[in-house]
Amino acid sequence: MGPFAWFLLAFLFPLTLVKDVNLLCHGDLTDGFIPVPLNESNYHKLWPYNLPLSDCYSFTDGVRKLWVYSTDKSHSHSSTTKPRTEISISLIDDGYTYASGMWQFERQAYVPNGTSGVCIMQIFCSPNADGGATTLMLRVYDGALKYYQQQTVEDNIYDQWFKVNVIHDTAAKVVKVFINSALKLTVNNRGGSIHSFKFGVYTQNNSSCYMESCWKGIKVLKFV
Ligand SMILES: *[C@@H]1O[C@H](CO)[C@@H](O)[C@H](O)[C@H]1NC(C)=O
Ligand SMILES: *[C@@H]1O[C@H](CO)[C@@H](O)[C@H](O)[C@H]1NC(C)=O
Ligand SMILES: *[C@@H]1O[C@H](CO)[C@@H](O)[C@H](O)[C@H]1NC(C)=O
Ligand SMILES: *[C@@H]1O[C@H](CO)[C@@H](O)[C@H](O)[C@H]1NC(C)=O
Repeated sequence: MGPFAWFLLAFLFPLTLVKDVNLLCHGDLTDGFIPVPLNESNYHKLWPYNLPLSDCYSFTDGVRKLWVYSTDKSHSHSSTTKPRTEISISLIDDGYTYASGMWQFERQAYVPNGTSGVCIMQIFCSPNADGGATTLMLRVYDGALKYYQQQTVEDNIYDQWFKVNVIHDTAAKVVKVFINSALKLTVNNRGGSIHSFKFGVYTQNNSSCYMESCWKGIKVLKFV
């Protein structure tokens, strides 16, 4: 290699490093956000009305496990929705969470092989948006994590922990989903003015008989 080539290498190599460092810094999704204090009373639970909570939920060693069967009852006598075991993170007493600002929901999720046709996370909204009470649903169909029943957010999610960050910018009306810190979905929100984060298992069409998701490291953060 001639001296000029060495010169080029010496010049280009640090540039490559700088680029990687920028990428790494950019990977810290919570920069500018502060965690909101959460205690158990913020974890508002919904589960089939005829069962004890311990038949569809456990909280052991920091892991919240939620499960439901497609044959279970809805979460209340009066509801006609399909069975669910879900947690809604409620920061204020009316059960809703936020109406303005930029919010982030971070946690690790685990879905066992066999769980399908189920929503594992949603951003609830009120009043109803076009086509429903959610502005985001992440569903599992045959091992793929999907935006509703539409595009795939991440393939092959079964049987492993993965990190999910959801950022909802209510001013820009945009929702972003990151899996293991990589941006995987950017969508407009679907209306509604008051929102809250929910997670667990909520039966959808073509579900498996048994549905389960596990969660840990849950944080709600607000952009300041
Ligand atoms: C838990 O959070 C609720 C709602 O934010 C609050 O009213 C309550 O005082 C908190 N309890 C404790 C023990 O911190
Ligand atoms: C899930 O289980 C089925 C049936 O046991 C198996 O055929 C399939 O390969 C498994 N999928 C994954 C991703 O492990
Ligand atoms: C389920 O399927 C029925 C009929 O095919 C449809 O009307 C309904 O909107 C579907 N529900 C969901 C949650 O996709
Ligand atoms: C459910 O699955 C069947 C066959 O597997 C398919 O024809 C149907 O469109 C699916 N329905 C929904 C709502 O996904």
